[in-house]
Amino acid sequence: MAYFYEEPSHTFGEYLLVPGYTSADCIPDNVSLRTPVVRFNKKAGEQSPLYMNIPLTSAVMQSVSDDKMAISLAKEGGISFIYGSQTIQDQAAMVARVKSYKAGFVTSDSNIRPDQTLEEVVALIEKTGHSTIAVTEDGSAHGKLAGIITERDFRIDHVPANSKVSEYMTPFKDLITGQDGISLSDANDLIWAHKVNQLPVIDKNNCLVSMVFRKDFDSHQTYPKELLDSQHRYIVGAGINTRDYMERVPALLEAGVDIMTLDSSEGFSEWQRKALNDIHSKWPEAKVGAGNVVDAEGFRFLAEAGADFVKIGIGGGSICITREQKGIGRGQATATIEVAKARDEYYKETGIYVPICSDGGIVHDYHMTLALAMGADFIMLGRYFARFDESPTNKLIVNGNYVKEYWGEGSNRARNWQRYDLGGKKGMAFEEGVDSYVPYAGHLHDGVNMSMSKVIHTMCNCGALTIPELQEKAKITLVSSTTISEGSAHDVVVKNTSINS
Ligand code: IMP
Repeated sequence: MAYFYEEPSHTFGEYLLVPGYTSADCIPDNVSLRTPVVRFNKKAGEQSPLYMNIPLTSAVMQSVSDDKMAISLAKEGGISFIYGSQTIQDQAAMVARVKSYKAGFVTSDSNIRPDQTLEEVVALIEKTGHSTIAVTEDGSAHGKLAGIITERDFRIDHVPANSKVSEYMTPFKDLITGQDGISLSDANDLIWAHKVNQLPVIDKNNCLVSMVFRKDFDSHQTYPKELLDSQHRYIVGAGINTRDYMERVPALLEAGVDIMTLDSSEGFSEWQRKALNDIHSKWPEAKVGAGNVVDAEGFRFLAEAGADFVKIGIGGGSICITREQKGIGRGQATATIEVAKARDEYYKETGIYVPICSDGGIVHDYHMTLALAMGADFIMLGRYFARFDESPTNKLIVNGNYVKEYWGEGSNRARNWQRYDLGGKKGMAFEEGVDSYVPYAGHLHDGVNMSMSKVIHTMCNCGALTIPELQEKAKITLVSSTTISEGSAHDVVVKNTSINS
């Protein structure tokens, strides 16, 4: 007979945290968000081979995680999993670009030609959020440098919009430049000595290599939590599937990937066990997470199969229509709570701690704190990251508001049918995700810092200085729908709606 769960499953919006005692040392400056990513023998006193400095990962999605997102998130202390629904070569090239990125040296593929117009410059500034644009002869990332144009060089409402860039740019002959191979500190010395805001770095043929900006001078102060490997390169992850891993994994490892995850909407399967086994036998140094599961049985299965971490969540993603299409899934909070219990039991039995990741369904920042309090070691987010400048998608104006595009891996647009593959012969693929817009939210750095600040403050309210301490001390209450509506401003006419969620 079928198994019936007696209680309904719940999602994050149905819970609140009840504050605990806050001692005088429990202040935001003393809170650490450091968290393990990869399994380790905790009982033996070992450390995880990989930690993050903030508990956030960006989703394995075309509309979220490319190399630009990966660099931006690693700067903040988290990890991006670069999407796998692209060719092995393209994905490996993205990983390689993250690993070869030199902090402080910026390459942009949004350059412009001298014969283009100021109108096009304005559009590029709007689209990229960059106020300085390099002018190259052919407009390419590494074309011959012709000049620099910034938003301070012209007033678009005072000049004809079709004026040529060449008339307003600072031409090459007037630019201070650095030669390829220059160190960051020498580049900064030039910037300060010549009182310029940026330094184009060029090769011997005067082709643009990269740019160094004055504002990035204090990179380490701006990014105190940046996540680096032993060679001071940014840490990066990548999504893989259960079909082509024997070719994809070596290419990603060669490119320098630090961590991978099997990316599937439903991970409690023979194929995931086989993939984990094959990968770990052939490349013992490879670190691979698996998922997604929503109960203790699924967790135990993947932990025993050797998953380095386990991802939780079916049907809770903002773009997800899996529950509607197939009727499978579980409230994300209930799934996280049950899997966290299973993780703790597995640890008690074996001494091995397998980190768990709550994937999808985060709407408000406080949902992050709840997911952590319920036992997640870290969180994966799609919609949240898609809203920032750094996501790979277009920024558009819809109904007078800035939005960014965001589409599911199971949508017709992404056509990532492997994510939903049940092995055997390919069946009839159907959509499990939608194509959508999300409100534009500015720079990732500002958004992530604000969210982490809220998480940290709530942890202090709960008397916790670390994530494990939060998990131990948190008092979590289910709330009624009336309590939920009481939670936002009510019975008043709100004047200023700019306070972010
Ligand atoms: P979000 O943070 O709520 O937007 O959820 C992101 C998560 O949704 C991803 O990390 C995936 O686990 C999941 N996901 C991505 N694409 C699809 C889809 O097309 N259908 C269902 N779930 C998806």
